[in-house]
Amino acid sequence: MKSINLKLKNNPYPIIFSNNDKDLIKSFKSFVPEKKVFVISDSNVAPLYLKKIEGFLKKEKFIVQAYVFKAGEQSKNLKTLSDIYNYALKVGVDRKFTVVALGGGVVGDTAGFFAATYMRGIKLVQVPTSLLAMVDSSVGGKTGVNVEGGKNIAGAFYQPKFVYINTDFLKTLDCQNIKNGMGEIVKYAVTFSKDFYNKLNKIFDKAVVTQKDFDEIVYQCCKFKADIVKRDEKEVSGVRELLNFGHTFAHALETITEYKKFFHGEAVAIGMLFVANLAEKIKFCTEKTKNEIYKIVENAGFCAKLGLKKTDTKKLLELMKKDKKSISKTVRFVLPKQTGKAVFGVEIKDNIILKTIEDFLK
Ligand code: GLY
Repeated sequence: MKSINLKLKNNPYPIIFSNNDKDLIKSFKSFVPEKKVFVISDSNVAPLYLKKIEGFLKKEKFIVQAYVFKAGEQSKNLKTLSDIYNYALKVGVDRKFTVVALGGGVVGDTAGFFAATYMRGIKLVQVPTSLLAMVDSSVGGKTGVNVEGGKNIAGAFYQPKFVYINTDFLKTLDCQNIKNGMGEIVKYAVTFSKDFYNKLNKIFDKAVVTQKDFDEIVYQCCKFKADIVKRDEKEVSGVRELLNFGHTFAHALETITEYKKFFHGEAVAIGMLFVANLAEKIKFCTEKTKNEIYKIVENAGFCAKLGLKKTDTKKLLELMKKDKKSISKTVRFVLPKQTGKAVFGVEIKDNIILKTIEDFLK
């Protein structure tokens, strides 16, 4: 068993890495002494893992309630949340219960927001089962749901008591889900570390990425994330914006294509290529850096050919301006300075963004 301590001033907590179920039980026994849990999961994950985890906990005399909702981003909304509140009330979930988010990013965000708000807040544990949730969304306390007007608009910063990562869960993931996580993994390399960039390229060059490789990758990404969250838990100083490398363009692209053309990891990969182009255009980085970013994105299995010629470029710009991270009328970007080093809060004028989008999508 390995762990990383996320040293927050008010809510420090461990990210525990283990593929041994005994460690899962040990963690629950020490962090949930009330022995009452409310597991929230989805229709993909629950059939695979819910019974098993329920069984472990019941054997240790835990009271277990569970709620399962339909898998998918479409479920991450206020209706699902309202259904969970009502179900929890009906089955007697009280303030002594701990919510267990068992699933990928959608489950983690929804269950996390439920925990943050139910009876003014009850304890939360994150048990991520997707690569994306392991390397990103389960760590750092961002919770929330989508509303008609936008993604993650209703939400709260709400930290778990611990995060439990078992990479055995990755064995049941399909290719699309692995790629969703890959987008974020590449993001850490390009944003934070040339060493990690080199290491990832070596791993991607191999015929098979093994579970041991994934163990190392997931651990390293959590280290990057924990370090940033410790420095800027609520995205006040701006450092946490670094985790949004490539995301401003990605979110606009996902919205304009109505979440049908790209899955999130792909959109992030394309978003990273876009900021590489933008940074090169304003001479913020060299062509070499841009090419290095292209190299790792393609090496990770993403295609840099877009097929987006007919996209409404002005609309893309408008969508970027609506991003939560834009605080003035100018869009703020995280831009690469060199591979392994990015800078947040770079404001770019509309005409330059527009020209870059046009050239990028040609
Ligand atoms: N996924 C970005 C963040 O947690 O800040």
